[in-house]
Amino acid sequence: MIGNESAVHSHATALAEKISNRTARVGIIGLGYVGLPLAVEFAKAGFNVTGIDLSEGKVSQLNAGRSYIQDVPTTEVEALVEAGRLRATRDFSVIAELDTINICVPTPLRKTKDPDMSYIVSACEEAAKYFHPGMLVILESTTYPGTTEEVMLPILSSPGMEAGRDFFLCFSPERVDPGNAQYNTRNIPKVVGGITPACTEMGVCFYAQALQTVVPVGSTQVAEMVKLLENTFRMINIGLVNELAIMCDRMGINVWEVIDAAKTKPFGFMPFYPGPGLGGHCIPIDPFYLSWKTRQAGIEARFIELAGYINGQMPEFTVEKIQNALNDHGKALNGSRVHVLGVAYKADLDDVRESPALDIIHLLNRRHATVTYSDPHVPVVHVDGLALCAQPTLPAVADADCVVIVTNHAAFDYDAVVANAKLIIDTRNALRWAKSPKIIRL
Ligand SMILES: NC(=O)c1ccc[n+]([C@@H]2O[C@H](COP(=O)([O-])OP(=O)(O)OC[C@H]3O[C@@H](n4cnc5c(N)ncnc54)[C@H](O)[C@@H]3O)[C@@H](O)[C@H]2O)c1
Repeated sequence: MIGNESAVHSHATALAEKISNRTARVGIIGLGYVGLPLAVEFAKAGFNVTGIDLSEGKVSQLNAGRSYIQDVPTTEVEALVEAGRLRATRDFSVIAELDTINICVPTPLRKTKDPDMSYIVSACEEAAKYFHPGMLVILESTTYPGTTEEVMLPILSSPGMEAGRDFFLCFSPERVDPGNAQYNTRNIPKVVGGITPACTEMGVCFYAQALQTVVPVGSTQVAEMVKLLENTFRMINIGLVNELAIMCDRMGINVWEVIDAAKTKPFGFMPFYPGPGLGGHCIPIDPFYLSWKTRQAGIEARFIELAGYINGQMPEFTVEKIQNALNDHGKALNGSRVHVLGVAYKADLDDVRESPALDIIHLLNRRHATVTYSDPHVPVVHVDGLALCAQPTLPAVADADCVVIVTNHAAFDYDAVVANAKLIIDTRNALRWAKSPKIIRL
């Protein structure tokens, strides 16, 4: 073999061999909800894994063998750290010693709803300083189609360093669902697309060592779009069902009963549920990455904008329901005590990012209600610049003029809540079994 072909052969063969015999040194940049579980899976598969994060707290907790992510047991982290297979650092120069890097940094939206690429760019620029031939780099952060090729490739390429020959670059969407007891990083099929076929092949080879199923696709753009399709599908269907909930409310129809009956159809229907608004780092944000990108191509993403508008109205709709219910009981919202049950964005999690509970508390504050909350997973929240501490549930429920169930954590004693509350707004159908005139459902 001569020229390019021999270079492809030498770097690809050497790296594939190291990956297959698990001597490749794996690096994960960003050790949050996505990065830590991934680091643990590769360490469990027998690799030496180094996590790189800017957070001093996360780095020192990991090195002390402690997990700070609910789905990752501390016992696993402790055993892997003790065995010398997992460590963390803030020092990017370790990249010089690594063979692979997965980038799992945040991709938030700016206030203008434009993508904030600064985390990806900065992680990539740091990586580029210590980049060397024969490396595999995979972006896992959710982003708009084109990011890997348009943003990352120019940062990592240099004269004599060509993707698919001297290094391998892929995108692989992360699909982890925090709190899901059935599906985790290991058993959720992993989609991966590379800049070239050799890159895709290397990505597949890498993930196949630690994860159950790998799904190769033809390009990084396809892999990027897969994630946005999945999350846009959820966001739009939730928007549809939230609109249906508003319609049902006006018509005096129980939307929950409608959905339960509709889902008995064995084909062509999938249930989605209404709620107090979207939360979390993905569903409220990711579709706007797509609409931002399509706007540049002159296409307006109308479904996304409409669903975003409807979902964005749900905290206001919830507060209106609280206000109307209090009025029906001869009270005004102004001056009433409202107790919020659950502030995490999802049941049984401790994550409050984009949680609709924060919007609801803000709207209640603006209407001069006295707001308290309880949440077994979240000891403190910050709203309107003030720290609010979780209260013991039952005394606060008994004391409140109105209780609003925003997050249906399993840990709440709902029988006791129903017994002690004067009035309940249930935005999650958590009290589906209870019949009482003091319960008002979304
Ligand atoms: N959380 C989820 O359920 C989920 C699911 C699928 C996809 N995603 C996507 O995965 C990506 C990461 O999300 P997450 O929830 O893990 O975020 P996170 O905030 O929990 O973790 C990100 C980590 O990256 C670190 N970081 C930020 N900038 C860095 C840099 N330049 N160098 C090194 N470390 C840096 C932060 O300190 C943090 O620890 C996002 O794009 C998100 O949309 C998240």
